[in-house]
Amino acid sequence: MDQIRIALVGYQFMGRAHSNAYRQLKFYFPELPVEPVMKVLVGRNKELTDKTAERFGWEEAEYSVEAAAARDDIDLIDITAPNDVHAELAIECAKGKKAVFCEKPLATNLEDALRARDAVKKARVINMVCHNYRRAPAIALARKMMENEDLGEIYHWRSLYLQDWAMDPSVPLVWRFQKRVAGSGSLGDLMAHSIDTAMWLMGGISKVSCTMKTFIKQRPKATSVDGGLGATGAAGTMGKVDVDDGVIALAEFANGALGTFEATRFALGHPNYNWFEINGTKGSIIFNLERMNELLYYNGADPSDRHGFRLIQTTETVHPYMGLPGGGPRYWPPAHIIGYEHTFINTVADLMMGIVEGKNPEPSFDTACKVQAVMAACEEAAKAGNWAKVPKV
Ligand SMILES: NC(=O)c1ccc[n+]([C@@H]2O[C@H](COP(=O)([O-])OP(=O)(O)OC[C@H]3O[C@@H](n4cnc5c(N)ncnc54)[C@H](O)[C@@H]3O)[C@@H](O)[C@H]2O)c1
Repeated sequence: MDQIRIALVGYQFMGRAHSNAYRQLKFYFPELPVEPVMKVLVGRNKELTDKTAERFGWEEAEYSVEAAAARDDIDLIDITAPNDVHAELAIECAKGKKAVFCEKPLATNLEDALRARDAVKKARVINMVCHNYRRAPAIALARKMMENEDLGEIYHWRSLYLQDWAMDPSVPLVWRFQKRVAGSGSLGDLMAHSIDTAMWLMGGISKVSCTMKTFIKQRPKATSVDGGLGATGAAGTMGKVDVDDGVIALAEFANGALGTFEATRFALGHPNYNWFEINGTKGSIIFNLERMNELLYYNGADPSDRHGFRLIQTTETVHPYMGLPGGGPRYWPPAHIIGYEHTFINTVADLMMGIVEGKNPEPSFDTACKVQAVMAACEEAAKAGNWAKVPKV
């Protein structure tokens, strides 16, 4: 295989981020033994899809996923449509024997996520969910440190995923506010990332307690074709918000650690604050996406007059994703920092290698089902006002 021919579904926020990743891939990952070919952009609106395909650099346009999945000249289908269609589209792609890359969350509910997982398993196709933050070098370094048991026995996970775009009541009722389309609000949109990161670094979560709230219950209905984040409202026509604006969960990990998770779209002053801290017997680490090239590390073994969090700038060639196999920087010289888009480039690089080697990259649909199971338990716990066991999937 010298080419991987791609069809991308959706072309707004994530469609743009994924398109950029494929465009840049070979420039930054010259060692990849395959060429990604941006074959087909899939959208429902012909005029917009045609125009965007040209702008983003896709060779052709298709107007249904079924058509893309039936083509012989497509190897991989990448789904960046809203959550309610993820599972059905992934099942369609698996039927067409295509590798599937799907945005998070895998589905709007656990049942659909499991159906998608079973379909890709049955079809034996490569599958991956886009939890791109795993590929921030500082988070990948955190994983190495956890594998190396640098922090010792783990006591605490603490995370915040804060945004503030929804605080304005004139923000229209885009799909992210509708349970039927989104499944949940800040839980599936934001906390899903924190849950994935937490479980990647710390292992499984056994039970949760949770509370969630909708602060603004009615919003003007969206009028734009797609209802994305830039959509405008229609004066006078209001619709119901039936997802959480903010969510807070307590968790117990299987390894005995305690966790707290908070996610909200109502934290004024925080447009995209993705932060976590882990505390263990030997050390602590802190990550903050606003300073994504850095990992703060406290080593309890430092002499007491030198105690303090040290700042590791994860831009050296020895850091994950930062060095080329033959030596030298993959991106830029040390301290010449990388950004949000590079997490997607690193993610699709791993996806391509998975396809080439026939080895499923992580997080797989199976792993994403475990994240979805935690989300399902959060919803159950919030409803019951009690603790809920995370179902084994
Ligand atoms: N990995 C991340 O950090 C991250 C960030 C943002 C969004 N997301 C996820 O990406 C997905 C898309 O989010 P977004 O912000 O790009 O949304 P968006 O509204 O900006 O774009 C959605 C796109 O999907 C298309 N679409 C809508 N319904 C469709 C359908 N039935 N069939 C085919 N295409 C359809 C729309 O035309 C649009 O191009 C969501 O699942 C979201 O949770 C992930």
